[in-house]
Amino acid sequence: MEKTLIFLIGFMGCGKSTFGRKLGKELGYAFIDMDTYIEELTGKTVPQIFAEDGEAHFRHLETQAIRQLSNQIHCVIATGGGAPCFNDNMRLMNEIGQTVYLELAPEKLAERLVLDPTERPVLEGKTGDELIAHISSKLTEREPFYRQARHVVDADKPEDLLGKL
Ligand code: S3P
Repeated sequence: MEKTLIFLIGFMGCGKSTFGRKLGKELGYAFIDMDTYIEELTGKTVPQIFAEDGEAHFRHLETQAIRQLSNQIHCVIATGGGAPCFNDNMRLMNEIGQTVYLELAPEKLAERLVLDPTERPVLEGKTGDELIAHISSKLTEREPFYRQARHVVDADKPEDLLGKL
C-alpha cells in the first residue's frame, strides 16, 4: 500500500484545520491537527507551552511531532503556522510527504483571525491596522519557507487542490 502524508501549511487563519478535516473525509484519510496533537502529548495548551517553556521548546515539539507522524500511512496533517519555518522542517516534510501551501493575503488573514477565538501567542493580542502590519511583516519572513511547498493553492478555493494531487 502506498503511504501518503499530506501536510497543509500556511499562515495562521488560512484555514488549514477546516480544509484539512474536509480533505481527510474526501480522501478517506485520517486528519490530525498538529497543535492539538502536541497539546494532547504534553497535557498543556499551546499558549501555556509558550509561556512556561518558551517558543524554542514549542518549535522542538513541532519537529518531534512531524517525525512521529511520519509513521502514519494515509493522513492529512494541519501544521501550525510557524512549523515550516524552523529546524529544517520544510525539507523534512517534503521528504516524507506532500506539502500544500494555502495562500491568502494579510488583509483576509486578519479578517479571519479576528473572528477566530483561538489564542495565538505569536499575534501578541494585536488588532486592527496593527494586526495587518504584524501579519504582513511575519508573512514576508515566512513566505520563503511556505513557497518550498510542492503545491500552492488559493486558500479561498482550497478544493482546487483535488485536481492537483
Ligand atoms: C503559530 C501558529 C499556531 C500555533 C502557535 C504558533 C505560528 O497555529 O502553532 O500559536 O507561529 O504561526 P495555527 O497556524 O494553527 O494558528
